Amino acid sequence: MPMGFPLEAFRSALQYTARPSDIFICAYPKCGTTWLQYIVYLILHEGKVLPASGSMTKEIPHLEEVGKAAVEDLGSPRCIKSHLPLHMMPHHSEASYLYIARNPFDCAVSFYHHTRGFAQHYDFVNGSFDEFFECFLLGEVDFGDYFANLVPWYKSRGQDNILFLTYEQMKAQPLETICSIGSFLGAGAAAVVRDRKVLKDVIRNSSYDSMSRDQQRWSSQRPDNMPAFVRKGQVGDWLNYFSPDQALRLADKFDERAHGTDLKTLWPEVLRAARD
Ligand code: A3P
Repeated sequence: MPMGFPLEAFRSALQYTARPSDIFICAYPKCGTTWLQYIVYLILHEGKVLPASGSMTKEIPHLEEVGKAAVEDLGSPRCIKSHLPLHMMPHHSEASYLYIARNPFDCAVSFYHHTRGFAQHYDFVNGSFDEFFECFLLGEVDFGDYFANLVPWYKSRGQDNILFLTYEQMKAQPLETICSIGSFLGAGAAAVVRDRKVLKDVIRNSSYDSMSRDQQRWSSQRPDNMPAFVRKGQVGDWLNYFSPDQALRLADKFDERAHGTDLKTLWPEVLRAARD
């Protein structure tokens, strides 16, 4: 668990009882969680942005950070962010679980910047990518091993109440992805995304540019200098960081951990580039 999270909050999070109307936004860290939070918020608010006085972390809190009681105080439907692996996630057969995955190469780079950014939590301000890469490969980072989180969620993707998405697909086809999220969230949300004007608002207000502006304003108001959760927002930034040897090692680990699944079909180009 992240060092900055209160232990009691984390423990109580595991005891949270999910309700049928709950909407869980799930991901391994740095895979597009905040982006998905914005999209879900916008769909549920007919494309209208969160007012300047509001905060996304209050609207859609991080379960493991705030604990069970704070989530129970939310209005209905409760929208909840979580990085928990599937076997620890509060479960209800009628609750909705949206899971966003991202290729591990870009995830590692994003996680590296995140870890460097939290000066008071990690003692890694001057850490190098090479050092972080070794931790990532060993799964010795917040929320543990990337593959241990991804693989069980991937295997469960056929369940009616799980919508499995990828960062890369959301980037390439925002309109289609937002429509599929709307349909997944039920009749009301599906009607919202069928309205072309509202759909355009959701796309615009969850775009990289719009979210960057919003996050910059928001982080400058925070006392602890928390880094913005919107950084570069690209597919392929890993090519600027990985050595050929690191790329091969992560590709090998991918093969080993994806064994028996067709996980490779999610990111064929990335995996090919890693072996080039
Ligand atoms: P990078 O660090 O590669 O830029 P999380 O919210 O799970 O912590 O994920 C953060 C990553 O999602 C960051 O990746 C961030 O820039 C990216 N991201 C957030 N909003 C985005 C958006 N609207 N479009 C594209 N990427 C976005």
